[in-house]
Amino acid sequence: METAAETTEAVQAVIVAIDGPSGTGKSSTSKAVAAQLGLSYLDTGAQYRAITWWMVNNGIDIEDPSAIASAAGKPEIVSGTDPAAPTIVVDGTDVAQPIRTPEVTSKVSAVSAVPEVRTRITELQRAIAAAAPGGIVVEGRDIGTTVLPDADLKIFLTASPEARAARRSSEMKSADVQATREALIKRDTADSSRKTSPLAKAGDAVEVDTTELTLQQVIECVVTLVEEKRAAK
Ligand code: DC
Repeated sequence: METAAETTEAVQAVIVAIDGPSGTGKSSTSKAVAAQLGLSYLDTGAQYRAITWWMVNNGIDIEDPSAIASAAGKPEIVSGTDPAAPTIVVDGTDVAQPIRTPEVTSKVSAVSAVPEVRTRITELQRAIAAAAPGGIVVEGRDIGTTVLPDADLKIFLTASPEARAARRSSEMKSADVQATREALIKRDTADSSRKTSPLAKAGDAVEVDTTELTLQQVIECVVTLVEEKRAAK
């Protein structure tokens, strides 16, 4: 017979996959949901940005997929999963700031399209999710389809290109919404059309269109969905 403690642990261990294109509120939502429910949090985009940063810093030709493939196993990438203070460290260097530069942002789609990079990062992601004792919220592009196909709950966030561009430009304190919109669409097209695990909605994901919702409303919606799943476990 299960003890009360075992029952509580079984109820708490929930794996949530949150996918979608950029500017849909994925990161803010995922962090807040994890914090509110006492779960770990993993930003998989930060891992792809980190490996891209390492490639750029080590003189790897980003135009050459075979050079990227050969180097994919070299950097040591460590993600801290506290939703209140997530961290990303490459070979001992804190890269939280440098992975957000326009240079890394413009190169990350090419690096993350290389199958050897995806295999490497997917292994890391699965190991982190398996080691999260109370459960985890994992955000990305292919979490529900490829990385954690058995997740307890899969959410796919969407929003109109206009809403996404407006959010991204206010985050980046950039007034050029039009340029941001074009850059977003270019990156989403590359991420959705690559051969290996593209950005895609899993067949069993719940789609939430955030265009007309505030961040607080999106968080409440996802928290309710997680609580329903936990109650049903
Ligand atoms: O979420 P983000 O914008 O920081 O992600 C940066 C890039 O990383 C994104 O353009 C595509 C890639 N990525 C991916 O290919 N798969 C994931 N699970 C997460 C991100």
